[in-house]
Amino acid sequence: MYNKTALDGLFFISLPMEILDGKALSEELIDSVKDEAAKWKPKLAVILIGENPASLVYVRNKKKACERAGIAYEERRFPDTITQEQLIAEIEKINEDDEINGLIVQLPLPDHIAVPLVIRAIDPKKDVDGFHAYNLGKMFLSPEFEDLPPATPSGIIKLLDHYDIPIRGQEVVVVGHSNHVGKPVSTMLLNRNATVTTCHIHTKDLKSHTKRADILIVAVGKAGLITADMVKDGVAVVDVGINRTDDGKICGDVDFENVSKKASFISPVPGGVGPMTVAALIMNTVHAAKRQKTV
Ligand code: GUN
Repeated sequence: MYNKTALDGLFFISLPMEILDGKALSEELIDSVKDEAAKWKPKLAVILIGENPASLVYVRNKKKACERAGIAYEERRFPDTITQEQLIAEIEKINEDDEINGLIVQLPLPDHIAVPLVIRAIDPKKDVDGFHAYNLGKMFLSPEFEDLPPATPSGIIKLLDHYDIPIRGQEVVVVGHSNHVGKPVSTMLLNRNATVTTCHIHTKDLKSHTKRADILIVAVGKAGLITADMVKDGVAVVDVGINRTDDGKICGDVDFENVSKKASFISPVPGGVGPMTVAALIMNTVHAAKRQKTV
């Protein structure tokens, strides 16, 4: 596929544009850990509260990925009337269960439950989402301490690495400063010696930052946030947003049709970061089982 650049018209040349195919890479990565999974026999437990339609889809994808990798999977479902104390008691039961190596509590949770308290209750050794403060804190030390990194940031780094997109010394702009994506991916990029700017809802003049980006990572949850005039030619774009349009389609935060004409790389939604999150979760689960069974 080819895009037009500012040079078009002058020299009639255009730069190649590549789609960051997270679906294909995710399958490759999941297949690559099958032998390790057969050796360490990991088991993942997923706690799912209520009937959030998006959560049901995500959890189904995680289950399918476990089946593909050869990882045992157990789902524990509870109604959204469960109390915080009951949920934490369930987590503690799983913490004590030597048969289970990884535990995730699917988010979002009902409003009466405090997410930080729930995450704090998970044994950091089993925290394959990488959300616990212990695992997040370790990441600040160096890439070698990214033991159980958060799944979406880890998936993004794997995607950039696979397509040989250089990180060291590059201008990376992250839009979104959530605890699960924006902050940890900024840390992981700093660990790899990028020059990182993290923008968010209070950033003045977002475009002045996004325009500078060699790599632009967008994790806000607002369809159409990034338009073609906000990026420079040749940018690599990673779109983490998942939004539903009025006609029921899924789209990201980036105006894909127009931004892709200027980008050198761009991740689609769906089929980009989403499957990479699942692959990173699978890799964390195998890693957690190996750690638990060798120390
Ligand atoms: N909800 C949306 N994405 C995620 C995720 O990666 N992990 C968990 N636990 N919940 C989510």
